Formats: sequence, structure tokens, C-alpha cells
Amino acid sequence: MASAKSGNAAKTVETSFPWDETLAELSGPADGCLNIATACADHHVAAGRGDNVAVRWLGRRLERRDITYRQLADLSGRAAAVLAGLGLAPGDTVAVLMDRVPELYSAALGIWKAGGVYCPLFAAFGPGPIKARLEVGRARVLIASEELYLRKVAPGRAGLPQLEHVLLLGEDGGSVRPHDGCSDFRALLAATPPVGPVATTPDSPAFLHFTSGTTGTPKGALHTHRAVLAHLVTARAVFGLGEADIFWCTADPGWITSTAYGVIAPLAAGATVLVDEADVEPRRWYGILHDEKVTAWYTTPTAIRTMMRFGAALARSYRENSLRVVASVGEPLNGEAVSWGQKALGVPFLDTWWQTETGAIVVANAPGQGRRPGSMGRALPGVEAAVMRCDGTAPKAVEAADTVGELALRLDWPSMFSGYLGGNGLLTNCFREGWYFTGDLVKQDADGFFWFIGRVDDMIKCGGLQIGPFEVEGMLMDHPAVAEVGVVGKPDLLLREVPVAFASLNPGFEAGDALRAELLSFARQELGNVLAPREIYFVDELPKTFTGKILRRVLKAKALAEPDGTDLLAALPPCPGRFDDE
Ligand code: WTA
Repeated sequence: MASAKSGNAAKTVETSFPWDETLAELSGPADGCLNIATACADHHVAAGRGDNVAVRWLGRRLERRDITYRQLADLSGRAAAVLAGLGLAPGDTVAVLMDRVPELYSAALGIWKAGGVYCPLFAAFGPGPIKARLEVGRARVLIASEELYLRKVAPGRAGLPQLEHVLLLGEDGGSVRPHDGCSDFRALLAATPPVGPVATTPDSPAFLHFTSGTTGTPKGALHTHRAVLAHLVTARAVFGLGEADIFWCTADPGWITSTAYGVIAPLAAGATVLVDEADVEPRRWYGILHDEKVTAWYTTPTAIRTMMRFGAALARSYRENSLRVVASVGEPLNGEAVSWGQKALGVPFLDTWWQTETGAIVVANAPGQGRRPGSMGRALPGVEAAVMRCDGTAPKAVEAADTVGELALRLDWPSMFSGYLGGNGLLTNCFREGWYFTGDLVKQDADGFFWFIGRVDDMIKCGGLQIGPFEVEGMLMDHPAVAEVGVVGKPDLLLREVPVAFASLNPGFEAGDALRAELLSFARQELGNVLAPREIYFVDELPKTFTGKILRRVLKAKALAEPDGTDLLAALPPCPGRFDDE
């Protein structure tokens, strides 16, 4: 045991966590190799668990398909052979654009076996954000559903010269119609005998998820095969997962929560992953929790609020369930929602905190760690977390309990991202003196529980999804009417925040309902419904810093209809140079 740099005794954490034991458990023969796909499939087959169900898929019409661990090992070996046949080299990016369909699993594990980098994209994004991510990720191969490809990628494919191969999934399990430069993924899987994994090490790149920045293009956080150690450890520490569990993670495949807890963590733990193709629908969800005997459930506060709106009576009619643990991530979970879980489902919701960059849960209300409703929980074993402030440029731990500062993490756990692709220099800005600065403002109480306060930057949290204002602004600027634009988050009861835009116009364009409707539809077309602003306000001029950068905090105050822009950010400046409007 070693103590964190802070003076608070409650912050004493374990720093010598036995990660090597987990590595030995997953890596098999001591040849220095580690592969997420082998750990998630072949490892279980070798241990005699090949007939256990790895993935139980429910289609939109509640049709179901089970894939055993043996079948998953075989299918992923076939996918790896297909990719190798296309000339995929270790470290090449394979983008994936599909809804929650069974092939997501053969694709992800096949990419890992082939030594590639799995890069799933949000199906709800429009053509612009998808193209930007394919470019920044330098994807050589795309595996996509035919319908999503035709709508969102095909029109711009000529502008993606590095995208050499596209493998498509026909609708409803059917074959693919002929399209230029595309092949049928399922037909190739059926025709190609499986191969074993290439020799990846814990440091080989494995998956790439985009996280938005307040400036510049979206940046991709790259993770290595080592991350599976943190996924297995947190699967056990937070969810108590083992072979007997049915684990349901509701995340969209484009979100890292799906990669980490919808794919890797439960499979590494040998559990059955339940995957539902449909989006949140409370009655259906209660039915699934009950009928499928889900034992552990991971979802978002937005989904929980949606379920709460349907009332506790509906929930109680499903109270006879097999749930042992339910948890959420993505936004703060208030104490009321925690106790609603207890009343309605018979188990309290546990709040967990992490980020795309941390790759796995690092702070949580976990069994055995203590729980405090309304808090994010405590640092998990193996993680050193502290509240820090930057006075000048040097980071200092906040000594007193219940004092706001930035959440910082010591850089020594396996799922920490290895670097950004794209972006613009943010990498160096978030690392200081061996600590990673998360960009989240928190307080820590005397017992070591963290309480979320807000972000130090302008990121928008909409239904759990992190939206970078710059990407939305950049697309709106492409419209000839828009001279300047600033995008901020406006509070929303269900989604927490929604993006709204403030725009000034070029000469010759008239502010009014017609132009507003045109801009909103332009944004939805280009960005997709999730990223597009919900409202556009016309202003004569946007508020700016001396150096000409848009002051989004003033716009936010306008969106909140507050008298001025004074907010937490003003009260607590982050490290100099870290954020754009300083
Ligand atoms: C926010 C999600 C409050 C936070 C896996 C973080 C939370 C960002 C919580 C990361 C929580 C996540 N309470 N806020 N329990 N969990 N966040 O990268 O601002 O999409 O920095 O990863 O979500 O979002 P990301």
C-alpha cells in the first residue's frame, strides 16, 4: 500500500495491484503474447467452457440467436482469415459501422485476432462525422451494414482513398446486393476457414474510440490489448461477473462502453452477454430483464430517467427478477435514481465513473467498496485518484475534503489510452507530472467518495454521449448563410443537455423561421440527429475573447437565461493553456 500525494487519509490507495496475476490468467503460455480475442473466446474453449453461451442476441422483433464460446472462437478465426486475405497488417484500423447485431462480435474479435485495430462508429452519426473519423483513423477496411454504408459512406467514398475494402452485411441476415468495391461479409465468413491469432503483445494497439474535443477535429483515443486486464478485473470488482451471469450492457456499439462492457469485460469473465438490437423502450426492457434472467445490468442515467418516467408501478410488476447488480455510467446519477432502483427493481443503481481515455471503470460505488448514493464512488483497487488544482503550471493535490478541483489519475493502470490520433496537442496538455488530468471537476469527501461537479471545458453531455461543440460548429459553418457560430449545451430534463447553436449571418441572409428550419435540417442531414443542434438562435455578433475565440461560457449563460457568464469555470481556472478560451 502506498499513499496518494494528498494529505487526506481516506485517499490512501493500493498502488501495487497484482496486474501480473491477471495477465498470467489471460495470456496462456508465457510467451509474452496477449490477445483480447483469445482471452474472450479461445481461452474459454480451452478451459472446457466452449458450449457455454457467449452472446445471446435479441432482434427488434425479439427473435433470438445464441452464439457459444466455441462458435465465437470459430467465427472470429474466420473473420481474421478474411481480413488477413485482404492484406490487413498488424496495427491497421478496421472501422465498424453497424447496429447491435451478432456480427459485431465476430467482427471485433476477428479484427483482434488479425492484429488490427477495432474502431466502431456511431450508426446515428451523419455522413460528415463518419467521414472525419474514417479519415483520422486511417481506416483501410470498413465492415458495415449495407443500409448504413449506402446512406452514410458510399456518397463520400471517392474522398476516402485510404479506405481499400468494404465488407457489407445484408439486411435481416440476407445477402448483399452488388456494389462497387464491396464484398459480402457473411458470405466470406462462410467460405473462409478460420485461422489462429497473430502474435500480439500487451502493448499492441487494439481499439480506437473517438472522443470529441472542444477545438480541432475529433481525436481518437487508442488502447492496447493490455486493456483486457482492467476489463476483467472491473467485471469482477464492480459486477461480480462469472460464468453463471447473464450480463446486459445497453450501450451503442460506437461508444467505448460497448467495447469495454458490451464485448470485452463479460466475455473475458466467461459470462453470457445479452445484446438487444432495439433502442430504449421501458416495457420491452423490463420484459427482457425479467424473461432473460439478467443478473447484472449496465446502462445510463438517461435510460434510467426514461424508465422512471414510466413509473415504479410498471417496474414493480417485473420485480421478480434475477438482478444482482445494476450500474450506470456517462453522467451523474442522482441519489433519487439510486433509491428508485431499490424500490422498483429491488437493487440500487450503482454509479460508476470513467472516460474513453481511461478505457475501463476507475471510480465506482462497488460492492465491497462501500456505496454513497449521489456520488461517483471511490477509486477502484489498482487506481490512484486525487483532486488536483493547478496553481501556476504545477499541479497540487487539494488537501481539504469537499473542495472542488480537477479529478486526476496516476498513470499506471492497464486500460489507460496510449495516445490520441488527430486532435491538436491535447495529449501533452492532459498529462502533468505523472498524473492524467481528466477535465472533470469533482469534490472528494472525507471518506474518499468522489462527487461530480462539472467539466472544465465546453464538452456537451447529451444522453450520455459526449459532443464536442467544434465539430457541430464546423459543419454549420459550411452553410453559406452562417458567418460565425457557437454551440453549447442547454439543460434538458431527459438527456441532461442538448446542443444548441448561436449563429450570426452573412450579408444577404435574413434571420427568421424559414432560415432556422433550413439550417436545422441541413445540420440533421450532415451530422445526424444526435449531433445536430436542437435549436438555433440568431445573434448579431458572438461574444469573443481578446484573441478572437468564441466565449462559449457566455453563450451557455444565454442558453440558461442567466444574467452573466459567471460559472464554475470562471471560479476555477484550469491549467493555463489547456483549454481554448483561456
Ligand atoms: C462524464 C464514458 C458524472 C464525465 C464511459 C467524463 C460522468 C465523460 C460519469 C466521459 C459519472 C462519465 N458521473 N459524469 N458517473 N461517467 N461521466 O468518454 O464528464 O464518453 O469525463 O466515456 O462522461 O465520457 P466518455
